[in-house]
Amino acid sequence: MTHITFQPASGPLRGEIEVPGDKSISHRSVIFGALAYGTTKVRHFLEGEDCMRTVEAFRQMGIKIDREGPVLRIHGNGPEALKEPQAPLYFGNSGTTTRLMLGLLAGLPFFTVVYGDSSLSARPMDRVVNPLRQMGAEMNGRESGSYLPLAIRGKKLQGIDYSLPVKSAQVKSAVLLAGLFAGGETIVRESSATRDHTEKMLQAFGADITANGLQTSISSGAKLEAGNIYVPGDISSAAFFMAAAAIIPGSHLVLKAVGLNETRTGLLDVLQKMGGDIRISNRKSSGGEDIGDITVSYADLHGITIEGELIPRLIDEIPVIALLATQAEGKTVIRDAEELRVKETDRISAVCDVLKTLGADIEPTADGMIIHGKSKLTGGKAASYQDHRIAMMAAIASLAAKGEVVLDDASSISVSYPDFFADLTKIQS
Ligand code: S3P
Repeated sequence: MTHITFQPASGPLRGEIEVPGDKSISHRSVIFGALAYGTTKVRHFLEGEDCMRTVEAFRQMGIKIDREGPVLRIHGNGPEALKEPQAPLYFGNSGTTTRLMLGLLAGLPFFTVVYGDSSLSARPMDRVVNPLRQMGAEMNGRESGSYLPLAIRGKKLQGIDYSLPVKSAQVKSAVLLAGLFAGGETIVRESSATRDHTEKMLQAFGADITANGLQTSISSGAKLEAGNIYVPGDISSAAFFMAAAAIIPGSHLVLKAVGLNETRTGLLDVLQKMGGDIRISNRKSSGGEDIGDITVSYADLHGITIEGELIPRLIDEIPVIALLATQAEGKTVIRDAEELRVKETDRISAVCDVLKTLGADIEPTADGMIIHGKSKLTGGKAASYQDHRIAMMAAIASLAAKGEVVLDDASSISVSYPDFFADLTKIQS
């Protein structure tokens, strides 16, 4: 591991950033493109490590995927074009690749073994394996199939009516993907809305899917048709620079063409409630996804409570929201976020550990954290936990700190934001 040192900001942050393509939408564009008939062309695809795992998996299953300039092309020929992979599929650090692919592989007529890195191998897969088994899937792995590696013998599946026990778009998507090839109808019911990119994109590809509030139904039979996809900027990546502008006095940053899907914009609501100065302009829509420019300027922030239905709409932004809270007057409480315990790392412990080390007043709770602001961060030595969002949060924290922040390793950032360092430099020059 190589240490990396981040310096405090020497003045206000200024400029425009074109944030990388949305990770969730990039994964889905490859999956549905590979299942469709014809060539799907994807612009602004995120070439981060996670999405490249999805690309590699389909290449191993015989799908040609190439580039024409900046456009990623997926040459699909329907599900029959997918071939049994000759070797196990490696999913690296990518939970989305794993959970969505399990839904697909369960119903394809071949045998597959899938595995991942040490973080992924410790993440729960029973949340996907259980509903898929109810549909007739044959999956085997450690602890009754709760963890990778998993071996999957594809079967003809049957639709189910499934109420999600966890608020997870990955689980919802896995069941919907299985439902795409299962007999009868598959219904998924949620208790709070999670990101709905799967539903939107399947609709655009022509699947027989109906999304109605918290209930989505899908049936097999419709042929998916290839299309052109523009991937909006990832609000979860934009979040780091939104936070940076909000906490460094005098700053003003514009984040261009960011995805504004309602199921993802919890951070905008939170920043507004905290007293942030935030504006949206140039609104447009593409493939059912809302897009716009986000302008954030420095403002005095105050603490708030973040809970309930808001949590799934900002689940990946909680590390950087915790940082915002350290720079806000008063108390911020985050609750109902126990899902953070099973992300790339236990993000409740990791966030509290890193921010405490850097001088914040923060305590973990079973399902979230309590932060008292405003603290002058001191800087210091922090651990990234090999988690991209923890590493980027620590880098942004350094901007607001008195002294430098030395991070044990920042290589995980390439999972979702390969140009993070270039953008961090750009806004300071
Ligand atoms: C994702 C869903 C969320 C999110 C992850 C991406 C997706 O995970 O945290 O980064 O693309 O569906 P969960 O489904 O585990 O909540």
